[in-house]
Amino acid sequence: MSDYLWFDGIPLPSVWFEKEILKNVCDKFVIRDEDTVILTYPKSGTHWLVETVCLIQSKGDPNWIQSEPIWERSPWIEGQRGYQKLINKEGPRLITSHLPLHLFPKSFFSSKAKVIYVIRNPRDVLVSGYFFWSKTKFVKNPESLTTYFEWFLKGNVAYGSWFEHTRAWLSMRKRDNFLLLSYEDMKKDTKSTIEKICDFLGKKLETNELDMVLKYSSFHSMKENNMSNISFLPEDMASDGLVLLRKGMMGDWKNHFTVAQAEVFDKVFQEKMAGFPSGIFPWE
Ligand code: A3P
Repeated sequence: MSDYLWFDGIPLPSVWFEKEILKNVCDKFVIRDEDTVILTYPKSGTHWLVETVCLIQSKGDPNWIQSEPIWERSPWIEGQRGYQKLINKEGPRLITSHLPLHLFPKSFFSSKAKVIYVIRNPRDVLVSGYFFWSKTKFVKNPESLTTYFEWFLKGNVAYGSWFEHTRAWLSMRKRDNFLLLSYEDMKKDTKSTIEKICDFLGKKLETNELDMVLKYSSFHSMKENNMSNISFLPEDMASDGLVLLRKGMMGDWKNHFTVAQAEVFDKVFQEKMAGFPSGIFPWE
């Protein structure tokens, strides 16, 4: 059990992050027009999207995703290791981040780099996060789902408030270089979502290539792929039972929330997410 590294009011995992680097990411890191950024609040389907985009780039050939760890293929910009890798990489980069908008590199806002932002029902994000973070040794571990539920609503969890993260990033949704996806749409119609990503990235896949992307980005394939399922985190970081690809379903929160929790969550959601057009959140 460990506490957070607090940076500009945001709690971050206590390993992999350094305040100096975080400052550099925000103020100095130069996002290039040809970069592609995968942005999410944690537990929204980040790894699934990274895997999908890598497979689109390789035209469905699984060689790359089966030979290089996912965090090397699309490094986390805010982590020490990812930051070093990215500043030294030439050409178009695939970048992953969970940073809230106000901590993201300022250079992005005047660039043509493409951002894909994935949202997921925050109730499922909460449950997924509870099971994941409880088994890691780099954030404060909740003793129960009830405790984590309270922390989540207050934003006292890794990367801060889901509501603030989502509100802020959604303010970018009308930009041409911003693609908004949802975990729910990815689940309901994976093929159309892949086609949407291809259009956004200006890639064209043949039917057989698209089938390969579908095949190798499936829950089952990713769970088997040791380069993507983060099964080899060292013992000082993860407890037994840490699983990234846990259930991969929509609505698992219904198996975990009490009726009272569901009501409280609904109320907070309505208050905090007021003002967005209906239909933007496919789970509501
Ligand atoms: P669950 O814990 O609900 O199963 P992230 O990558 O942002 O950490 O998100 C992890 C969540 O995405 C987990 O949710 C995981 O199972 C789900 N996920 C990862 N790959 C997936 C895939 N190929 N298909 C469906 N869900 C996937």
